[in-house]
Amino acid sequence: MKPILSLAPIRGITDATYRDIFARYFPGFDLALAPFLTTYQGNRIKPERLKELLPENNRSLPVIPQILAKDPDHFIAIGRILHDMGHETLNWNLGCPYPMVANKMRGSGLLPHPEKIEAFLKKVHILPAAISVKIRLGRKDSTEIFKLLPVFNQFPLKEVIIHPRTGIQMYGGAVDLDTFAQCLELCKLPVVFNGDITSPASFNTLNKRFPAVSGWMIGRGALANPFLAGQIKGTPLPDNPAKILKAFHDELFEKYQELLSGPSHILDRMKGIWFYLTNSFANNKKILKKIQKTKSLQRYREITDEIFNEST
Ligand SMILES: Cc1cc2nc3c(=O)[nH]c(=O)nc-3n(C[C@H](O)[C@H](O)[C@H](O)COP(=O)(O)O)c2cc1C
Repeated sequence: MKPILSLAPIRGITDATYRDIFARYFPGFDLALAPFLTTYQGNRIKPERLKELLPENNRSLPVIPQILAKDPDHFIAIGRILHDMGHETLNWNLGCPYPMVANKMRGSGLLPHPEKIEAFLKKVHILPAAISVKIRLGRKDSTEIFKLLPVFNQFPLKEVIIHPRTGIQMYGGAVDLDTFAQCLELCKLPVVFNGDITSPASFNTLNKRFPAVSGWMIGRGALANPFLAGQIKGTPLPDNPAKILKAFHDELFEKYQELLSGPSHILDRMKGIWFYLTNSFANNKKILKKIQKTKSLQRYREITDEIFNEST
């Protein structure tokens, strides 16, 4: 049986435009989790963030919306809108490690508080949608999860997506596979593994060790090598991968020029994409430096054409 693969949310990159164009060029992903939505000034939501989640803007890859909230009423308010838009599953972000978020007891900042998580889940279960959670092992300590799993086990959650790092680890240091193995035993709900899958080989090692996992979520590894999900599922690399990468890149660049206002916004977005994508190229550090220095769209176009021409 082929593994179920989902594209991880990477805020600032995997928006609806990126997901749509990505899925049309690269096979392999079954679904995506969208970067988090949040409310401001109580229950307000930015309309452009909701637009990202309209079914008509997500035709190439099914998407699950994610909500970052510590107040269950805010989650319910956004959740109702998303459910009315047709979303049957909603994901609760319990993993965001950034101090600005976590210090306000949101994202991974809630992980040391199982009682608050329990009260939250009790309240949001009035929503007609299924709920899943995306979590880390803890905020500061990887044993925090052992107080959380019994809480999750009480609710009919769709799945528990575990990124086996602590919040204070951010995205560095090793993933803690031994603690993940214990979680897999203790969790009665479907568990999705997320973290540092960067090659078919790293996937195969994890798949062998954790056959009970119900799905796999890949973020940075797929942004660096967009062919990765397809390779994991057995699709061989095409004869000329750089040609497909170029077509993907050019379509993204064109679309962001239509959607974003001003060269600096467009260039910032493209530079963010290249931060990962350069790993598909041999001389990646040199390429990234060149791109990061670019200040005009014209120069950006010249440099990227050069990079692709040298690789095809
Ligand atoms: C720049 C950046 C933005 C991210 N944004 C989100 C987000 O909006 N929601 C979320 O749950 N995780 C977010 N993540 C975490 C990723 O979804 C994922 O859990 C993490 O990168 C580990 O998986 P990977 O090693 O496959 O990338 C973000 C990560 C990065 C690096």
